[in-house]
Amino acid sequence: MSKILAIETSCDETAAAVIQDGRQILSNVVATQIEMHAKYGGVFPEMASRMHVETIVPVVREAIEKARSNWNDLDAIAVTYGPGLPGSLLVGVNMAKGLALGRGLPLMGINHLEGHIYSHWLRVQGDGTAPDELTFPLLFLIVSGGHTELILMRDHLTYEKLGATADDASGEAFDKVARLLQLGYPGGPQIEKIAVEGNPHAFKFARPKIDGEFAFSFSGIKTAVLRTVQGYGPIGPGGSIAAGVPINDVAASFQHSVVDQLVSKTIAAAEKYGATAILLSGGVSANKLLRYVMKSKAPVPVYWPPLWLCTDNAAMIGAAAHWRFLAGQRATWDLDIEPNLKLAE
Ligand code: KG4
Ligand code: ZN
Repeated sequence: MSKILAIETSCDETAAAVIQDGRQILSNVVATQIEMHAKYGGVFPEMASRMHVETIVPVVREAIEKARSNWNDLDAIAVTYGPGLPGSLLVGVNMAKGLALGRGLPLMGINHLEGHIYSHWLRVQGDGTAPDELTFPLLFLIVSGGHTELILMRDHLTYEKLGATADDASGEAFDKVARLLQLGYPGGPQIEKIAVEGNPHAFKFARPKIDGEFAFSFSGIKTAVLRTVQGYGPIGPGGSIAAGVPINDVAASFQHSVVDQLVSKTIAAAEKYGATAILLSGGVSANKLLRYVMKSKAPVPVYWPPLWLCTDNAAMIGAAAHWRFLAGQRATWDLDIEPNLKLAE
């Protein structure tokens, strides 16, 4: 049994949650900075950490109140200590340390990617959610603004990195192409929206050839999109593009190319390692084309968390913390941020 207060501030969401036994969400509070960052076309690190400082106290307080919890019921305080933006991570880690010390509770440091993975163990409603019992080995595709990784899990808390992106993360590619097409931030949902009206075969943004059986690459696709757009006329001051650019077709073809690469490598890895299921995590797993193409082609079941658990949140950090709590793991008071923390080599 465990009841854990989790804090997550690695990027642009200030989040806190109370999670019971790694499965039950007693509360889940997320204050997003998306609107503010949208004005600048992306996350502005300096502003992100300032916003975390302003919102972390009310967010934590709300998480405790909504869970109808009091500090004496808690078993531990868990916090994301990496990977992420240094100034953002610091706010969460310092808050968690202060609370743990003040309340006499154990402190736990959690890897943000491990959180995305353990979001699948939370019991929630949704059309693609995983069943209560999952059998190892499991294959995770983590696709977010900062990561694109294929991770094999043969047991709890045990990770093997099968492949990762050689350049841009898949979400980053969505964000950059959206910026080029002047669609705003975050780019993924915008591209997905206009792609519905476009022809995914209008342009061929070919799958890149890269070293590594399960390595990904998205920067070539992004450059190919840029060249296509420039083919309709030069990009003007302020980034304006030629009036004749068929942005729906460009968006649909780009999305098709990214999804095609993600799906083919993931399915090849699932077959090679005998995974019993494919589990999608991270912001890009909100993409419906990715979900449905993966599901229609995979030889094993494919699961994804509901939208609100795909993007950054603290519930997933509390879910991961439960398994580390069971294993007896606790952080020491010198827990520090690790902006480049890895899940596995
Ligand atoms: O996991 P997340 O919330 O934050 C990080 O840890 O990075 O992922 C955010 C990323 C952004 O790049 C965003 O454009 C992308 O996820 N994203 C999507 C969609 N929704 C969010 N990409 C493609 N299709 C979507 N529907
Ligand atoms: Zn994330």
